[in-house]
Amino acid sequence: MNVLGIEGTAWNLSLSVVNEEEVVVMVSEAYLPKEGGINPREASQHHTEKIPLLLRKIFEKFPRDRVDAIAFSQGPGLGPCLRVTATAARLLSLKLSKPLVGVNHCLAHVEIGRWMTKARNPVTLYVSGGNSQVIAKKGGRYRVFGETLDIGIGNAIDKLARSFGLPHPGGPKIEQLAKKGEKYYQLPYIVKGMDFSFSGMVTAAERLYGKAKIEDIAFSFQETAFAMLTEVTERAMAYLGYDEMLLVGGVGANERLQRMLREMCEDRNAKFFAPPKEYMGDNGAMIAYTGLLMLENGYQTPIEKSFVKPNFRIEEVPIVWP
Ligand code: ATP
Ligand code: FE2
Repeated sequence: MNVLGIEGTAWNLSLSVVNEEEVVVMVSEAYLPKEGGINPREASQHHTEKIPLLLRKIFEKFPRDRVDAIAFSQGPGLGPCLRVTATAARLLSLKLSKPLVGVNHCLAHVEIGRWMTKARNPVTLYVSGGNSQVIAKKGGRYRVFGETLDIGIGNAIDKLARSFGLPHPGGPKIEQLAKKGEKYYQLPYIVKGMDFSFSGMVTAAERLYGKAKIEDIAFSFQETAFAMLTEVTERAMAYLGYDEMLLVGGVGANERLQRMLREMCEDRNAKFFAPPKEYMGDNGAMIAYTGLLMLENGYQTPIEKSFVKPNFRIEEVPIVWP
């Protein structure tokens, strides 16, 4: 089965065709804010403007009459962005007379990670701009064992970068700065039960600006935030007795975070998995692949139920595949 997937929950508009064996094709257009962080209205305008181009590109590489189904990101995400891609998906489904399936974006991050790495039943750390969650499958659902109480780790890093005057996205730049940091400044380490919080850390780190070197602030921020994430991930693994861990989401590209998690896994004789960078952040292939899994297991989304769900939770989807 060839599934065309459409992702556009936030910054990346991305279309891909996937079958059981491979990602056949993927085309993407990233929205980069001119200043500040992601503006939902501007991002949705970007997607509106670019979707005809991406549709043309993908059908040049893959004939439309071989598409068997359409999958789209139904949520969570930015409302205006979700509506653009959902509308395109509905139209394609009607025009090609092929089934439609609405996919949970967080579930898609997890499933493409498992597909690419062959992890069987991991504890997943999903770290992106808008989300930070520790997820594991238990009793036919993915459940969230811990998550951020305020902003996602990616947004926290992007905010810190902006206060240094660096353009969006700040993640890769903070990573490079942190590599040159030497001095550790203590920042609030906030883990409450299995949940964590980042906005207080950002404020504390911003207060160091002008007093400490930005390399040292970036280093201290990463060390503190990533230790919090590693602690909660390890606790979930110990509690569940799972011996695999999977890292997904845009922040997963960070080498320091990967190293901390890998060391934690080695200490407990667990296996650490991370998909290639291309499939860590938002991408169309993850939506197409999860759509394929769902369709093969009897899921479909009739047009009248294809409204977007900006607060869609991963727990809402019954998981009937292994
Ligand atoms: P979601 O809708 O799942 O919240 P998202 O829209 O935030 O996803 P992603 O592509 O998953 O999109 O993640 C983007 C985030 O990843 C940005 O905050 C960006 O700064 C961050 N990021 C990218 N590379 C790195 C890196 N090397 N180190 C830290 N953060 C990074
Ligand atoms: Fe994402």
